[in-house]
Amino acid sequence: MTKEWLMLDAIQGARNWLEKHAAIQKGEHVLVLATTRSETDVINVVSAVCRELGADVTIGVIEHSDLPHPGPGKILAEAFKAADVMLRVGHVMCFHDAPTQTAILDYGLRMSALSPPGNMELLASPAARFPLDLFYMIANKVYQQVRSGSVIRVTDPKGTDISANYSGEDVGGLPGVWDVGPSTVPGDAPGTFPPGVVGLLPEPGTGNGVLLFDGYVGMGRLKEPIKLTIENGWCTRIEGGVEARLLRNITKGVENVMYFTELMWGLNPKTNPDIDIKPMALDAERHAGILHAAIGNSTGMGGKVYSKLHLDGLIEWPTVYIDGVELIKNGRLVALDDPEIIEAAREYGDPAKVLADLR
Ligand SMILES: [Fe+2]
Repeated sequence: MTKEWLMLDAIQGARNWLEKHAAIQKGEHVLVLATTRSETDVINVVSAVCRELGADVTIGVIEHSDLPHPGPGKILAEAFKAADVMLRVGHVMCFHDAPTQTAILDYGLRMSALSPPGNMELLASPAARFPLDLFYMIANKVYQQVRSGSVIRVTDPKGTDISANYSGEDVGGLPGVWDVGPSTVPGDAPGTFPPGVVGLLPEPGTGNGVLLFDGYVGMGRLKEPIKLTIENGWCTRIEGGVEARLLRNITKGVENVMYFTELMWGLNPKTNPDIDIKPMALDAERHAGILHAAIGNSTGMGGKVYSKLHLDGLIEWPTVYIDGVELIKNGRLVALDDPEIIEAAREYGDPAKVLADLR
């Protein structure tokens, strides 16, 4: 696609993001935060659409850094406090650092991020242009089913078979866990665009079975599956090839890292399903029907067990049951084939194409 045509699609993606997910309001002060490696076209498109929505736009550029959370520096830290919304464009790692958290918690800064690499290609992608009203309908169907249940079971063709209890009360209310937006509440960080990923925290002590992963954070696609044995909510064995050995080394001696902390899955049939992206296949985690499960820290999602590590693995073709009823069937989110969803998809074209999985 030539650059000009990419621009047309990217504008559509940006409108989707800023109007319906980041929910930019007329008169708001928006800080577009980029790095010295962000694409200028993305900065321009995002800023222009914010202006179109009636917002006042300031652009901030920080130096690119490979450090996980370098923070914004003294000048932009003040800008964070003054802004209503901060939009992260490119590999901007401002989130867990103190100035960003202060702006969010004490000054009500709202934050939304374009999924890395946050380039024109992503903004123009089918995932970014997926109709968000339809997406929210799909998300809501999944939400209702999970919320009304209390037992989850996951299987897959490689041999995954694990069950856990959970509380329906915990599904949905936790920021980051239910990051499907939109939100205009000060201090909200509705998550990454394009959305979305949802999930639940297993009730402590109830997870039992085995997980066999196709991909793992930091490792990409695995040569041999990593097999975790979970007993009463704790991982008791890590088996497999060289990658499993690496995981055993990473986890050695780290407090609470063996805690079975989360089960999540994607909702968007158009996000990039490639699990071989390092360090984290964020888009694959958001792809409809791909499941990820983690051991380690749960406090980031409202859980009570703290560990300094949180390690996610991905399963590409799971079947997920909620109280015995299929939620995902062989990697296909069942809600995508719900008659109500198919009917609603008609507004955007041939439902079979609108709801087709990229895989
Ligand atoms: Fe996770």
